[in-house]
Amino acid sequence: MCPLQTSKLFQRSETTMAQERFFILFLLLVLVLLVLGCVQVSLAKESQAEKFQRQHMDPDTSTITASYCNEMMKRRNMTVGQCKPVNTFIHEPLPDVQAVCFQRNVPCKNGQPNCYQSNSKMRITDCRLKKGSKYPKCDYETQQLHKSIIVACEGNPYVPVHFDGSV
Ligand SMILES: *[C@@H]1O[C@H](CO)[C@@H](O)[C@H](O)[C@H]1NC(C)=O
Repeated sequence: MCPLQTSKLFQRSETTMAQERFFILFLLLVLVLLVLGCVQVSLAKESQAEKFQRQHMDPDTSTITASYCNEMMKRRNMTVGQCKPVNTFIHEPLPDVQAVCFQRNVPCKNGQPNCYQSNSKMRITDCRLKKGSKYPKCDYETQQLHKSIIVACEGNPYVPVHFDGSV
């Protein structure tokens, strides 16, 4: 009687152990999947077109104050790690800026052939880091202008990916 009971007991505990092992493996798998998911999210870099919009598009602002550049350069993450020295914001609707990719083809400053100049003048704000401004205190000069913009375009759809200048 006794040996039989012992072996039954042993069998049961082995089954339990197998279940526990399976459960632990399952938990590990879930954990690994969660970690992979997070890594993928953090690796999902913004596209070139999204970066252009973050750095250069501000269609809804019509009143530009003297502190505009200080606030916007910070809000748009261009003062992270260092102060971006110069940057231009465009105050026109996104479709109007995207349409520039199909306007006058001009050479880019770096010699690339994929730059385009807008047919019409646009409302823009130039931000220029003031002399003597030292990171992390990024202090900008804000200058409102009305000029033709030049952007570099890439991809399909063909959209602005870089602000090349204004004339
Ligand atoms: C700026 O960076 C922070 C932290 O990485 C992020 O949460 C935020 O969405 C970014 N802002 C813009 C406008 O991209």
